[in-house]
Amino acid sequence: MKRKISILFVCLGNICRSPMAEFVMKDLVRRAGAEERFFIASAATSTWEIGNPIHEGSQRVMREMGIPFEDHRATLLRREDYEAYDLILGMDRENLRDMLRIFGGDPEGKVQLLLSVDGEAREIADPWYTGDFKTTWRDITLACRSRLADFGEKV
Ligand code: 4NP
Repeated sequence: MKRKISILFVCLGNICRSPMAEFVMKDLVRRAGAEERFFIASAATSTWEIGNPIHEGSQRVMREMGIPFEDHRATLLRREDYEAYDLILGMDRENLRDMLRIFGGDPEGKVQLLLSVDGEAREIADPWYTGDFKTTWRDITLACRSRLADFGEKV
């Protein structure tokens, strides 16, 4: 059996943005009929929310947009995740800095910002601070579609 493409979404708390990205991507992959090809998960760079469920604001926007999600508990990014995943996608530059510290570098170029617009890497705003979960959902969806298209999936 061919090895799955594994993608890890990472943010500060793993309760707002990265679990939203995890379930948006799982939904897109399911719609593309490509579930056999991908393994998708999410993790936090900080210990602050470990064990906590997805933020109510992220749950609300996913319900509104018809994106199925399961009970998810915030988990901490570990050094071993670097070897385990093919692509490790952060939401903002602080996430990238924290990941490089946790991993001790990025020799394989796996650590990237999730979103890029016209070839330029962009940050995804943290709705923990902005309160705007809809804009975060829009950016995450745009980015995930583009990432899947990069893997040759029609989305
Ligand atoms: P997230 O948002 O990184 O998108 O999950 C945050 C969640 C919690 C906190 C900050 C950002 N916090 O300060 O606890």
